[in-house]
Amino acid sequence: MSILELEYEDRLESVQPEIILKEARPFLELMMEYRCALMEVETKLNVLNEEFALKYNRNPFESIKSRIKKPLSIVEKLKRKGFPITVESMEDNLFDIAGIRIICSFVDDIYAIAALLVQQDDITLIEAKDYIKNPKDNGYRSLHLLLEVPVFLAEQKKPMKVEVQFRTIAMDFWASLEHKLKYKKDVTDAQAIFEELKDCAEIISNMDLRMQDIRDRIEVRGDDTGRNS
Ligand code: GTP
Ligand code: MG
Repeated sequence: MSILELEYEDRLESVQPEIILKEARPFLELMMEYRCALMEVETKLNVLNEEFALKYNRNPFESIKSRIKKPLSIVEKLKRKGFPITVESMEDNLFDIAGIRIICSFVDDIYAIAALLVQQDDITLIEAKDYIKNPKDNGYRSLHLLLEVPVFLAEQKKPMKVEVQFRTIAMDFWASLEHKLKYKKDVTDAQAIFEELKDCAEIISNMDLRMQDIRDRIEVRGDDTGRNS
């Protein structure tokens, strides 16, 4: 049995410190590798942001947030999905240990940046889930990319998986609130609430397109002014 599977109290009382250290090492190494992979992808995104800002005179990103899945969430997810609780199993079965969420101003910026990222020659696209073109049943929208990026360590070049989620401010607003509401499951009119949330997602999506249209009208006018002066 791996020490990851023991309850916290058992770990403190029955496991020798040297065993903890021996088992902790590969775990700490893997987490370090995921942190490095996040840095790699984050730098690529920041470079694209800088270039885009200079070219179009605006930043396509509202924010970029990276996170490494917490050890307890990792164990919980492995248990829930019936996978072994080991360091190898984490790497083989969980693809969202390293995650980046990019909030973009406009929907077309999402596709522009995602395409530029994926076409870089050290990035491998493992899977794309386009919940913008094909929203989830509840109305959830985002573009999820599962990427592999090489991390250059002292003794090897290791491909690491990173999950990248692209959203607009509007999609993020909906997803954040919907996520909070999920915890209250004891409501009587669950179906009506589901429909209401889905309707909100539609309204928000429509607003995204209108804002993009407004931006296009302003940018065209801006260009004209530039040319005429
Ligand atoms: P898991 O990774 O096991 O969750 O399943 P999956 O790989 O099929 O999930 P998917 O890639 O579709 O979504 C993973 C992540 O997207 C979640 O951890 C959330 O951050 C986000 N997400 C997906 N669906 C929803 C949703 O309905 N509401 C909200 N708020 N977030 C969602
Ligand atoms: Mg997932």
